[in-house]
Amino acid sequence: MAALPYNKLLRLKDFANLSSINNYFYALLFRFHSDLHLERSERNDSLSMKSSILIVYYSHSGNTEKIANFIGQQTGGDMLPIQPEEAYPISYNAVVEQAKKEIQAGYHPAVKTRIPNLDVYDTIFVGSPNWWSTIAPPVATFLSQNDLSGKNIAPFCTHGGGGLGKVAKDIAKLCPGSTILDSFEIYGDGGGAAQAKLSAWLKKIKVTK
Ligand SMILES: Cc1cc2nc3c(=O)[nH]c(=O)nc-3n(C[C@H](O)[C@H](O)[C@H](O)COP(=O)(O)O)c2cc1C
Repeated sequence: MAALPYNKLLRLKDFANLSSINNYFYALLFRFHSDLHLERSERNDSLSMKSSILIVYYSHSGNTEKIANFIGQQTGGDMLPIQPEEAYPISYNAVVEQAKKEIQAGYHPAVKTRIPNLDVYDTIFVGSPNWWSTIAPPVATFLSQNDLSGKNIAPFCTHGGGGLGKVAKDIAKLCPGSTILDSFEIYGDGGGAAQAKLSAWLKKIKVTK
């Protein structure tokens, strides 16, 4: 595995250079503590189709995947990781640059992920890392390719200090006929507090009791 950029410091100002990003990011520093375990297995979970809940997500460095897995454990939902046809670079600077260009261009990279039968799902959790204040492009591809109208959509994101940004709004734009539930955001992988915070959110949106 390549050398990992743990505790990488980035100026949020760099992210604010994108015209679409609110400039409240200007003076802060935030710390990325993503574990870049990019060699993790490319899971292609088979869908049980027995649950009415689907958890679809993209994760580059594992944080969003960890949260997605907790949601799966707490709800019994089916897991569907979004896999781009071409993996993003491992190098932190390279992925930041590539993502910036793709987001600015509104580019939707090809993804391998398909849902065999959407009809069985009522509630779809849609998870993404906050990339430049919005969803990662593979999530945009997935939402553009699948008609989720009539479904309840629960957006969630992990971030490096910028919070939800436009993640939920941009998910909602790509799901025009869906009911968008309150969203969930957490810093990094959320550490030890993640499960409790998640469980409170799942109760709030009435997915669990
Ligand atoms: C290309 C790229 C852009 C990012 N942009 C932001 C950002 O605008 N705001 C922010 O808070 N964090 C940003 N981050 C940090 C990620 O949102 C954060 O590390 C997230 O937890 C990573 O999730 P993952 O491990 O599932 O990929 C960015 C990270 C990358 C790689």
